[in-house]
Amino acid sequence: MTQRTERTIDFPSELIVEGRVQILVPDLKAYGVTPSNYAPSRAPVFYNPVMEFNRDLSVLAFGAYQNMMGHEVRICEPLTSQGIRGIRYAAEIDNVSQVLLSDISTKACELAQHNIELNHLETKIVLKHSDANRTLYNNASPKKRFDIIDIDPFGTPVPYLDSAIRALKNHGLIAATATDLAPLCGVHAKACLRKYGGKPLRAEYCHELAVRLLCGYIAATAAKYDIGVQILFSHSDDHYIRVYTQIDYGAKKADKNIKFIGYIMHCFNCMHREIIMQPFNCPTCQECGAKMDYSGPLWVGPIADPSFVTQILVQNQKTILRNNTKIAKRLTLIKAEAPLPPTYYVIDKLSGKLNLPAPANQAFIETLKKAGYQAVLTHFNPRGIKTDAPAKAMHRVLRELANNKEL
Ligand SMILES: C[S@@+](CC[C@H](N)C(=O)[O-])C[C@H]1O[C@@H](n2cnc3c(N)ncnc32)[C@H](O)[C@@H]1O
Ligand SMILES: [Zn+2]
Repeated sequence: MTQRTERTIDFPSELIVEGRVQILVPDLKAYGVTPSNYAPSRAPVFYNPVMEFNRDLSVLAFGAYQNMMGHEVRICEPLTSQGIRGIRYAAEIDNVSQVLLSDISTKACELAQHNIELNHLETKIVLKHSDANRTLYNNASPKKRFDIIDIDPFGTPVPYLDSAIRALKNHGLIAATATDLAPLCGVHAKACLRKYGGKPLRAEYCHELAVRLLCGYIAATAAKYDIGVQILFSHSDDHYIRVYTQIDYGAKKADKNIKFIGYIMHCFNCMHREIIMQPFNCPTCQECGAKMDYSGPLWVGPIADPSFVTQILVQNQKTILRNNTKIAKRLTLIKAEAPLPPTYYVIDKLSGKLNLPAPANQAFIETLKKAGYQAVLTHFNPRGIKTDAPAKAMHRVLRELANNKEL
């Protein structure tokens, strides 16, 4: 087995340990790649060590899903690169019947095959040198469909979502990563419209809008096939967003979801936001009368299910990972913010707009709560507050805190 490896892996590589597996990966130092200067395309096979947190969370979320469903799961990861994700799923998640991996790159497949053998998982993992859509469509007939599909591309997952939804069993789970934050966060708005069919907005909560644009796209794609969706979990980290969606067959389920596709109106003058479901005509802000901008169509429904997040937390407690503490903190925030309405306020942005000193997170939250509003921190931004308070109430609270400071 070792001899075979030496024959096929003809580029600088190193052995790493992640979760419960050992993986041979490109030696990024040899390609001048560092975490601060991350250009994965320089290496012959894609590998990003920073995504360990993302992979850890995926292992836990899929474990929680398997536990919730109570039956064996068959998983597909059709853009696998060196295989690290799929190999971890086979090694670390209970009751996995099979993992099907594929990649379009010959070098990636050679490395993935080496890593499958290195971890003695040849009987559990099938590897195909194939285009992701071909892999998925080859498994779209009812008896071949998967329980879980993980779409983890470099860039947008959009080209793979139709085939992934077709290749997923009823009540199956699809996880999709998007790293194309320039379009999704409004830097390249036209690309976002083209790919996701919704307008982004360069507001301070653009990462949440990115999640909602991707969720809206998944819901609309599923609806075409008379399939409804439930967003079980989503998060934003570093340079990417990731969404975990359970699907539910039935035209009525799809109709119900269409009602969660709407628009978020934003006033750049007073920062007021509004959710509307119907297309609009030059609306003005109810709070200050300024003309509003908008983002959408996008998903305005829940973007995490607190009970599913609790199940991921349970898995985190049962599993030893390098990221246990970070994961627990992130999940606790996501669980608390899940029931709050869309969008969040970034304290410094709001106080800057009003020329007032920026209060500490906790002081701001406590004052909002005393005024009768809900308020929690959001995982999207360390200075972000999710609340049901309108913009004018936020202004009042900021002024009150500034006055108290002067006293
Ligand atoms: C971001 S990497 C995957 C990273 C991997 N999931 C991980 O956790 O390390 C994306 C991979 O998709 C592969 N790829 C790109 N286009 C593809 C296609 N159309 N079909 C299959 N694989 C493709 C690339 O060769 C690359 O290895
Ligand atoms: Zn306004």
